[in-house]
Amino acid sequence: MAEAQVQPSETTLQSRALADAPALIESVFPAQKVSFEAQKERKANLGQTLTGLGSYWKGRKPLILVRAIVLGSLLPPTGDPEKDLDLYERLMAFDAEGLARRALVQNKLRPADIAARIAQPNPWDYFTFTGAKDAPEHDPVWALECPFDADAEGVNLRWRRDVDKEERLPLYKQALASFDSYEAKAELCKRPEELDAEWLYKPVWPEVNKRYADLGVDAHSFPELIEQLGTLRYGRRPRVGDTFCGGGSIPFEAARLGSDVYASDLNPVACMLTWGALNIIGASPERRQEIEQAQKEVADAVDREITELGIEHDAEGNRAKAYLYCLETRCPETGWMVPMSPSWVISKTRNVVAKLKPDHQNKRFDIEVATGVSRAEMKQAEQGTVHNGALTYELDGQTYRTPIKTLRGDYRDADGHTANRLRRWEKQDFKPQPNDIFQERLYAIQWIHKRTLGQSRLKTFFASVTDADLERERRVEQLVADNLDAWQQDGLVPDMAIEPGDKTDEPIRTRGWNYWHHLFNARQLFIQRLFGTHVAASDMAAELSVYSMKVSDWNNKLCHWHTGWDKSENLFYNQAVDTFFNYGSRSSYFLLSQWGMGNERFSDLSRLTRIVQPTAANEPLDNDIFVTDPPYADAVMYHEIYEFFIAWLRKNPPKPFDEWTWDSRRALAIKGEGDDFRRGMVDAYTAMAEHMPDNGMQCVMFTHQDTGVWSDMVGIFWAAGLQVVAAWYIATETTSELKKGGYVQGTVILMLRKRVAGDRPGFKQRILPAVRAEVQNQIESMMHLNDEVEDKHGEPVFNDSDLQMAGYAAALKVLTAYTTIGGEDVTEFALRPRTRGETTVVDEMVQQAAEAANSLLVPEGLNKETWAKLSGIQRFFLRMLDMETAGASKLDNYQNFAKAFRVEDYTSVMGSTQANHARLKYVTEFASRDLTTSTEIGKTWLGRLIIGLQQLLDDAEPSHVIQQFQHDMPDFMEIRPILIDILRFIEHKAIEATEEKKQAVRDAAEVLAARLKNMRALGQ
Ligand SMILES: C[S@@+](CC[C@H](N)C(=O)[O-])C[C@H]1O[C@@H](n2cnc3c(N)ncnc32)[C@H](O)[C@@H]1O
Repeated sequence: MAEAQVQPSETTLQSRALADAPALIESVFPAQKVSFEAQKERKANLGQTLTGLGSYWKGRKPLILVRAIVLGSLLPPTGDPEKDLDLYERLMAFDAEGLARRALVQNKLRPADIAARIAQPNPWDYFTFTGAKDAPEHDPVWALECPFDADAEGVNLRWRRDVDKEERLPLYKQALASFDSYEAKAELCKRPEELDAEWLYKPVWPEVNKRYADLGVDAHSFPELIEQLGTLRYGRRPRVGDTFCGGGSIPFEAARLGSDVYASDLNPVACMLTWGALNIIGASPERRQEIEQAQKEVADAVDREITELGIEHDAEGNRAKAYLYCLETRCPETGWMVPMSPSWVISKTRNVVAKLKPDHQNKRFDIEVATGVSRAEMKQAEQGTVHNGALTYELDGQTYRTPIKTLRGDYRDADGHTANRLRRWEKQDFKPQPNDIFQERLYAIQWIHKRTLGQSRLKTFFASVTDADLERERRVEQLVADNLDAWQQDGLVPDMAIEPGDKTDEPIRTRGWNYWHHLFNARQLFIQRLFGTHVAASDMAAELSVYSMKVSDWNNKLCHWHTGWDKSENLFYNQAVDTFFNYGSRSSYFLLSQWGMGNERFSDLSRLTRIVQPTAANEPLDNDIFVTDPPYADAVMYHEIYEFFIAWLRKNPPKPFDEWTWDSRRALAIKGEGDDFRRGMVDAYTAMAEHMPDNGMQCVMFTHQDTGVWSDMVGIFWAAGLQVVAAWYIATETTSELKKGGYVQGTVILMLRKRVAGDRPGFKQRILPAVRAEVQNQIESMMHLNDEVEDKHGEPVFNDSDLQMAGYAAALKVLTAYTTIGGEDVTEFALRPRTRGETTVVDEMVQQAAEAANSLLVPEGLNKETWAKLSGIQRFFLRMLDMETAGASKLDNYQNFAKAFRVEDYTSVMGSTQANHARLKYVTEFASRDLTTSTEIGKTWLGRLIIGLQQLLDDAEPSHVIQQFQHDMPDFMEIRPILIDILRFIEHKAIEATEEKKQAVRDAAEVLAARLKNMRALGQ
């Protein structure tokens, strides 16, 4: 593909004038706001821009986060962090004006809400109310001034029609200003990407041009700004690379901002999706129309063929929407064939169930579908015939129970592995053979009423399977039986074996399915092949293939039937390849209605250089900035599960996918956390460092876990010749099935630059003081910015987690500037196998940084001297209490601080560990067993004080409580000022379940502190 063309600039912009300037992201980053916006994007689920191409890809990074990183890597600081941050936030639409525009489009803030929140002497210049025309002139309503409560006044407010968007904006702005947190404001807003960019950012460009006037910047859109910033730094439109591109978020957003992008991934499915992001979501409007037309043609062709064959219609002309299948097996006790399903409920909304009717003559069950059944029947159907790992059913009043393991014939083989007697399916199989342990059976069909076909609201009903239905099934099976071999040879149907693995063992072990096409029944294979044939013949084969992979995800035997939705789910609604005893299969009619472009948010990226290539990460092209999200400690087994798609495309990939290796290359995938992982990563990052200019930047994202992760990652980048220049912490929530129970996940954004060439030997003793000084410097400058911004906007920029993270970064910045530590080369250090429990020099630095940072982060209201003397668990408790009074409640905050303060078991002082509603135990909530001297908190001063407070609340005499202190704490007189200080802190910060209790605890703390203070005066 052609190199990026640098457009001649009309301004006095000087190429590479900023070549040596730092990037803004090295000093400021709106981490809190990015976290919130990233979570908002995640929560949009299918409303996310790239999910339309395939929600099956797991772990896409939020686009808003990528945007903040790319912008921050290009914007220059101007020596005034406050103003720089202000502009950064405007460019992200996080500022008051941006929020007002976003709130206006969202339209969640009603006129009445606005009228109640703003000061406005002439509300009727903006609003009107129902019945305004009839209201007499002297009606008191006309005299109202904002703020007023429209409900209480009995008026129903609306915007006046002649008041346009621009005139409404100041009112939105004023109303939003009355909310006290960013979260509360942004909750009422659309996401920036949902708005028309030209309108949203219109007021920003004059500010940008003014601020960077002396650099010759003159931009009126992001592409213009990015091109000019790139020219200033790199002498060209910047090129952003991602060698672990996955679902394509990073290259897509970088391209949408206006940079040229280069993306690669080992996995061809990742390349396909990234290609799709850039070439489908990023297609020009004309191209998009062509794609849509091609989709329609394929859909029509598939539909025609299915209709001609008559395999989805019944005799009345109704059309199937879904088929429900289950397994069936012979009960070893009775010899009966028993249908298997954990539940026989079909629809919870319409009370539809399948009833098993014994057929004694044939020793099998007929299955009858009943609609509108009673509650009792629904309850009974919920029982199913598979529970607790056993086939369980009733026949003639007797219950039979056979474990699934027994049915399968599980046993231990000679190597001690569990094996079973299920027949291993062969390449030519597409349905069970008559003697197989598990048979498959169609047990219900959801039909669409003939008269609603083609309409947007379909009327459907569920019905039992008839002989005619079975005859149609046999016809489809015959079609597959006659053609499977040829289709496989032509690559229209997979013939690829399932390679065993962590996730891929499951279908082999539980069903004997050995080839990927065994995950499809005859009907599904037939539909998929039909799509495939027409897609391959289309001019838009690549674009359409991206969509037909989406269809495969919804059209296989691993699609769970959802009784609440009357629909089947997709296979990759989670990150596994799990089999089910019953499943739903969508008809081609239903699949076709959902295939194709949905509500995707398109952006024309056609004028940029976009290269997607499946290479291992060690052969990248030259890039100015690399932004990567490597597969570290990631639960997603990309290299295994997406073979499901590779199997479909590998023999006949359309152009340009045919230039790629259609194999997951499992052996090359970087995975796990061991020595191989580190070697693979060092190779990959060394290659990237070699392929960027000396003033290039790298951003690496990884999950924040513990210092072990830091140590590994930093060692890797260090060995790759990179130096840490900044780190930020982003909290992103995940609702991943694998991590049940709501879970807040932290992502570290590590910024790196090339280490200056030459040797720089370092020694621990000399590095440590430098680390402390750098940490202190960094944190103090951030706290200063915090104070200034808080004074003006009421909210600080950074919270304690940000400060701490910046502390780590400062320490690592010092450390990674060296090439050897105590004589050991950094590459050797990074690649040396670790011993269990080993504390490396990086661990030590991170810990030092944490300690240096923590000693600066004294909670408000506590003396520095007291803070310096407190142990980890006490610091943890008091710091978190301080954060709770400010409204914090995210579990990851508690986890991070527990680590930083080296708390052994922070959960012992937690009242709740819910992801978004975490809190400490209340003073009154500690049980006596929590406070014995064998617990972490029990043996501390704080622990004794909590006991004392509880005693006071139980009406003990203060003098008695103090006597107890004297008895329990031998150094009581010395530490008395500390105890008083802690009590004063509790007096102002304690939280309890009720206001009354809180006051009681605070009063008790006040009484006890006063008593302790007066002791000398009283001569005690
Ligand atoms: C965490 S994912 C990236 C997700 C991506 N940022 C997104 O937003 O969708 C990591 C990716 O690294 C890829 N990968 C693993 N080993 C690789 C290697 N040796 N070379 C290139 N890519 C590799 C995986 O295929 C996977 O797509």
